[in-house]
Amino acid sequence: MNILVLHGPNLNMLGKREPAIYGSQTLEDINSLLFSLAAELGCKLSFFQSNSEGDLIDAIQNSSGEFDGLLINPAAYTHTSIAIRDALSAVGLPVVEVHLSNIHRRETFRHTSLIAPIAVGQICGFGSDSYLLGLRALFSHIKKT
Ligand code: DQA
Repeated sequence: MNILVLHGPNLNMLGKREPAIYGSQTLEDINSLLFSLAAELGCKLSFFQSNSEGDLIDAIQNSSGEFDGLLINPAAYTHTSIAIRDALSAVGLPVVEVHLSNIHRRETFRHTSLIAPIAVGQICGFGSDSYLLGLRALFSHIKKT
């Protein structure tokens, strides 16, 4: 099994960025936790982070035929990007959406996800554990299909 992990804008600044909300772990820390879990589960992982909507869309389009599922933290594009949602729908791979923070207990503009309706599910509010829970959920979803 081959899973692509996509990180949206500003997640490259984790560790320095609003640590009271996002914690002190860096993106490299999170990727390495995911990598260890993937080894335990027995699946392959690739990682991609971009601050650009177009680059994320290109990565989603290119995932077709290469990956079995997508684990995505679309960051602020969660709340704004019809284009990322359309790319995910077009590719048709199972998607699990994750967020470090609980978007539903923050500002109202974060309460809406344009991605959640086309995802298998959404996990938020558990810091880096959101990613780890998301990987486990995606792995077991793909195994069943
Ligand atoms: C985030 C939540 C988003 O609202 C925000 O724009 C982010 C990070 C999270 O992981 O908690 O950049 O996706």
